[in-house]
Amino acid sequence: MTNSTSTSSAGGFSPQWLALRERADHRSRNPQLADALKTRFLQREQITVVDLGCGTGSNLRATSQLLPDRQSWTLVDHDPALLTVARTALIAWADTSDISTGQLTLRKGRAELSVTFRCADLTRELDTVLGAKPDLVTASALFDLASEPFIQQFAAAVAKRRAVFYTVLTYNGIQRWLPRGPLDQQMNAAFHRHQMTDKGFGISAGPSAPVVLSDQFETHGFTVAEGDSPWRLGADDRALIAELAAGFAAAVRQTKAMKDADIDGWLKRGHTGAEVGHTDTLAIPGLQSRVESSDSTDD
Ligand SMILES: C[S@@+](CC[C@H](N)C(=O)[O-])C[C@H]1O[C@@H](n2cnc3c(N)ncnc32)[C@H](O)[C@@H]1O
Repeated sequence: MTNSTSTSSAGGFSPQWLALRERADHRSRNPQLADALKTRFLQREQITVVDLGCGTGSNLRATSQLLPDRQSWTLVDHDPALLTVARTALIAWADTSDISTGQLTLRKGRAELSVTFRCADLTRELDTVLGAKPDLVTASALFDLASEPFIQQFAAAVAKRRAVFYTVLTYNGIQRWLPRGPLDQQMNAAFHRHQMTDKGFGISAGPSAPVVLSDQFETHGFTVAEGDSPWRLGADDRALIAELAAGFAAAVRQTKAMKDADIDGWLKRGHTGAEVGHTDTLAIPGLQSRVESSDSTDD
């Protein structure tokens, strides 16, 4: 779930929150879609990738294992502090790193990754950050923040480049807490109202984002595959559950749809488990987007 409510004083995403969720994020990714992505690029020796809303680099750490050995990544975020943490975290994650040429090069297992960081706002600089022709455009836990018009514009931009699109962990509206309680449904409804407010892209698609993504890419002739990637949180995830519940309650409070005392009572239940539904999406360009792409060169 992409919830920034209580995760940073500036209303953005704190590196602590992103670190806390990374283990659950990585284990929750849909394995069939991951395999399909791997198969798609199996014959390639090298690949160029753009990661949108990269945070501290979690998506690279998981997705790079699925890609050819020589990888060139552009990591994009509008938060310069997160990009600084990303650089340090990726150097720590890699087996070796080299910046002698002014370009960060990482080695991890058999893979050699060249990594560029770009501080940019996707709502204003999408075309620039996508570049001329990336092989793969990817994102993790981003698109439920985005609005429907942004997703529409985004799908058109990716289609024009005939890039493959792979995104993971888009919130899809499923939310269950353990132990269950009488206020859960009301809390969920209020939370969804909060989800569909402006998160920097115009009114967010929130839990409709997976459907909007799939519709938009199909419109451009892509073959779209989707898979579930739920967080199933239990005894080993106590810190994440506590932080998630606090952020969820803070979001509900902001809507003013429920009494503070009820929200406090809900929080005091001391949740021991949670399921949060996510969808992963893989969109592969087809013949139709080839036609659109060659048409668009005449503009
Ligand atoms: C939920 S975090 C996910 C971070 C990372 N992809 C991960 O999986 O850990 C969403 C990220 O999108 C970035 N972001 C949000 N709106 C953005 C925008 N308009 N332009 C660029 N980055 C944005 C945030 O700064 C944050 O790093």
